[in-house]
Amino acid sequence: MPSGEKGGDAMDPASEIEVERGLIEKAKRVLPGGTFGNFPSEVVIREGRGGRVWDEGGREYVDFLLGSGPMLIGHAHPEVTAAVQERIAQGTTFFANNRWGIELAAAIVEAVPCAEQVRFVSTGSEADLYAMRAARAFRRRDKILKFEGGFHGMSDYSLMSLAPKRPGNFPQPIPDSAGIPRSLRDEILVAPFNDLEVVASLVREHKDELAGVILEPFQRIIPPAPGFLEGLRKITADHGVLLIFDEVVTGFRFAYGGAQEYYGVVPDLCTLGKVIGGGFPLAAIAGRADIMAHFDRNAVGDEGFLTQIGTLSGNPVAASAGLATLDILRRPGAYERLFATGRELMGALAELLKRKGLAAQVVGEPPLFDVVFTSEPVRDYRGTLRGDGDMLRRFNALLRERGILKGESKYYVSLAHTPDDIRHTIEAWASAIEVLVGG
Ligand SMILES: Cc1ncc(COP(=O)(O)O)c(C=O)c1O
Repeated sequence: MPSGEKGGDAMDPASEIEVERGLIEKAKRVLPGGTFGNFPSEVVIREGRGGRVWDEGGREYVDFLLGSGPMLIGHAHPEVTAAVQERIAQGTTFFANNRWGIELAAAIVEAVPCAEQVRFVSTGSEADLYAMRAARAFRRRDKILKFEGGFHGMSDYSLMSLAPKRPGNFPQPIPDSAGIPRSLRDEILVAPFNDLEVVASLVREHKDELAGVILEPFQRIIPPAPGFLEGLRKITADHGVLLIFDEVVTGFRFAYGGAQEYYGVVPDLCTLGKVIGGGFPLAAIAGRADIMAHFDRNAVGDEGFLTQIGTLSGNPVAASAGLATLDILRRPGAYERLFATGRELMGALAELLKRKGLAAQVVGEPPLFDVVFTSEPVRDYRGTLRGDGDMLRRFNALLRERGILKGESKYYVSLAHTPDDIRHTIEAWASAIEVLVGG
């Protein structure tokens, strides 16, 4: 256990384990695969505070999962909790405009370089779906180019070459799910991340039918190679193709203005999620006003109008949580602290792996990284496939036993991680690596 401190009411350990076992069994009965689809069924989280979470069995973890990213400032931050409690007491959803959603849109416009206007939705998947639709409506062309390994949510258009088991031939997409209409394969082109030459030739070849290029400017854990984003910006602008940054992960995480501020390249549109909802379901499409105008029938007429309605869009509780979160991120030193924590962790992990002679790369940027067990630098999806996946799974499992919770292939760093969390993590890494190399 990391701190020995208990979350919530202390319970007899034997009954905690029993409660946990009962929940896992119930989940297996009522949920397909026993899960919400996100994480292994044996982990049932009961509570989170700051940079730590506790499971139903009473185990404590330093949390690098962070709810898959939203909890950048930590769980149950008192200011976010207070803002949300105040909102909840006054009604939780109205469908009509509300002050908090309007203020959150204004905060996004103020912060994010490409954002002249904002449309709210409830999930990153939706945001990406509508961003692609906006590009098609604006350009009156059908095709979208995405990158192999790029994650843009769960829509039929996005689930193309996200995680192909075997490499396909660029630019043909490989659907990642059953149930995706065959006809959609013709609407998506796939290129290798960080390979400007291939993208440039695809954009030139398909310029008359290509509406947009969508990418994670930092793809999963892979930073853009020097000049890659700048080159993409130029080639898309030269051919009147829209550039869409999926900043669902990087927005307000890499800098207050997101990856577009951090890397200094401004797209035409971006999508945001995770951090802007402060732990509640809220996401957004943001971008140039002339493109965003397609969400307004009065501005573009029936022909160009993009139909988009959502029951919970701009929800006041989620918007209040987002506003309280952004308030904290705007404070002097916030990003310096986040990056200092991440740099210390990345450096320590790389050093431990090197000392034991393991073929491994620590890949990422300080707020978000992981190890790939390979001797080769990782530049794209195929580079991650060359990593030893079994070794990573064993490492993750050993870490979980040592009180470290993380996603399959990501450490999300939190502003709430303390020196004690860092120390515990480094000790857990050292001990898990010992086991890895020992057998
Ligand atoms: C880059 C990126 N885009 C889109 C999404 C989809 O967001 P959501 O899970 O809110 O639908 C995710 C989710 O992790 C993501 O990482």
